[in-house]
Amino acid sequence: MDIPALFHESEQKICRAANLRELEEVRIALLGKKGQLTGLLRSLAELPLQERKHLGADLNGLRENIQILLAERQRTLEEEETTQGLAREGIDITLPGIPPLRGRRHVLLETVEEIEDAFLRLGFDIVEGPEVEWDYYNFEALNMPAEHPARDMWDTFYITERMLLRTHTSPVQIRCMEETPPPIRAIMPGLVARHEALDSTHMDVFFQIEGLVVDKGISFANLKGILDLFVAMIFGSERKTMFVPSYFPFTEPSAELMISCGVCGGSGCQTCGHGGGWLEVLGCGQVHPQVLRNVGIDPEAFTGFAFGLGAERVAMLKYNIPDIRLFAENDLRFLEQF
Ligand code: DAH
Repeated sequence: MDIPALFHESEQKICRAANLRELEEVRIALLGKKGQLTGLLRSLAELPLQERKHLGADLNGLRENIQILLAERQRTLEEEETTQGLAREGIDITLPGIPPLRGRRHVLLETVEEIEDAFLRLGFDIVEGPEVEWDYYNFEALNMPAEHPARDMWDTFYITERMLLRTHTSPVQIRCMEETPPPIRAIMPGLVARHEALDSTHMDVFFQIEGLVVDKGISFANLKGILDLFVAMIFGSERKTMFVPSYFPFTEPSAELMISCGVCGGSGCQTCGHGGGWLEVLGCGQVHPQVLRNVGIDPEAFTGFAFGLGAERVAMLKYNIPDIRLFAENDLRFLEQF
């Protein structure tokens, strides 16, 4: 039996197969149940032992080589068919793909979480309250009875005469003190609403974070200490702080916390404008004794401090964002910068 001739003949048949269907026909003709090679292998049984051994080894080698050739040809034909198919459908697989859009967290949420983390590290809890609030919590319990002129600073959207969209997170102070006896050390984040003419620093819905500490012997020095730490953690320790007297009905004394401008360092520039080197960050003060009385806490036994900041404002100061409306516009050109 001429094994090399057989191999050559098979090789030619395999190479001539023009597509996968033809190749399969060749495979069956050679290695199928009734295939040429299968027949030869079967006929070995009739040969004497010595011859059988010899020829058997050769035929098995031939079969293996044919299998390799078949596999190679199959791969080539498959590739050809794929390429032809793509060309027929006009698909160019060498073109670069369209990268999928990657989502990211909103810069405002990032800022809120950064502030929350800072206060968690200072030992504060996080407490939340409702966005739709009673007049009592939003104003009255905060030492602003009906007709109090300070209510003008917080005009809002009313649901009913007694129910409204909260104008600040300060009502959560009241809920917090009603629920837990002192010592209290909590921050209260959330959305607030105001009836406001929109401009680059005012929006009708924005995000506040309230802070409240009530315990025995809490003083203004504690307030200053905590807020100085907060400024160092969020804006960096090179920023200076300044407490300027202010007025809020629910704190006495009240103050506004200013930080030195990050752009000019305090000498005055376009960014800090009329602030002359200082930027306003938040309102704060010692909890008014009447507010404590309103929730049944004895102001002779306990004192406290509170503060309220706008998260948008903090983000604007931190990243030099010029317009508060950018936070709500969802323009990717803005959001992708962070
Ligand atoms: N609630 C005030 C506002 O929205 C901010 C504020 C000032 C909160 C002083 C306080 C505070 O807790 O003590 O304008």
